[in-house]
Amino acid sequence: MSPVDVVRTVPELRRKVAGWHAAGEGVALVPTMGALHEGHLQLVRIGHRRAKRCVVSIFVNPTQFAPHEDFNRYPRDEAADLSKLALVGCDLVWAPDKDDMYPDGFATRVVPAGAAEGLETDFRPDFFGGVATVCTKLFQQVGADFAVFGEKDYQQLCVIRQTVRDLDLPLDIVAAATVRESDGLAMSSRNRYLSTEERGAAPMVHRVIADIAMAAGKGSAEAAIAEGRQKLEAAGFRIDYLEVRDAETLKAPQPWRAKRVLVAAWLGKTRLIDNVAA
Ligand code: PAJ
Repeated sequence: MSPVDVVRTVPELRRKVAGWHAAGEGVALVPTMGALHEGHLQLVRIGHRRAKRCVVSIFVNPTQFAPHEDFNRYPRDEAADLSKLALVGCDLVWAPDKDDMYPDGFATRVVPAGAAEGLETDFRPDFFGGVATVCTKLFQQVGADFAVFGEKDYQQLCVIRQTVRDLDLPLDIVAAATVRESDGLAMSSRNRYLSTEERGAAPMVHRVIADIAMAAGKGSAEAAIAEGRQKLEAAGFRIDYLEVRDAETLKAPQPWRAKRVLVAAWLGKTRLIDNVAA
């Protein structure tokens, strides 16, 4: 197994990608913050279905963390990430430095509204500004033809689609289904924060939203949402939101349109988010 090529400067990155494009090879980008798990690796496989070359970016983006959030303790293990990426045939890792991404004097920000309003933004007001800004930069740096995002972060996916559409960014966004543990818990780099007891309770999040999705499919989700809230709170969760929304706009659901059930809830010091189609 050959080690994955890692580049740390924009000119070097652009040279590699330009070489692939000159050879007529398509390029997919998978943006990540590292601490890679099977969910991330699945995005690389999906990238490879669309394009001959797949670039994975690893950058723990400071601008999407609020001062009280887990930026400093966010798990970082580049060596382990590179071994995992070698196994799925990643062609290049783009691992910029914080000071290269945000040099002194950096002062421009992409501020998304629309799909970014409500849900996560009610609890993390600057989060999608940070995500949209860094993803716009990553798209510009790499010059990929596709970028693959997980449905695990469903509102993020909607915001990125909107940013790409609104700013005419020349790439296609590809969505990948959420990869789950066998008990239903959505894989996440933050699951490693859970204690053994919390890990035992965590799959309830998925069970509750699956029940709500079933009820929403039959007509009304109100009672299922109330029941789900009760169940989660009784098991020790503190709920940020548990809602059914329009699957595309993330506004109030409409009877004749696709819906999504979305949840964010704290278990101790860990915040879990998940969603399913309804
Ligand atoms: P991160 O949390 O590392 O996630 C990187 C990508 O992996 C995202 O598109 C996310 O939705 C996807 N992903 C995470 N867990 C998944 C799972 N269980 N199944 C499928 N896909 C999964 O999301 C971010 O990083 C950052 O906000 C980023 C977009 C990189 C911008 O900094």
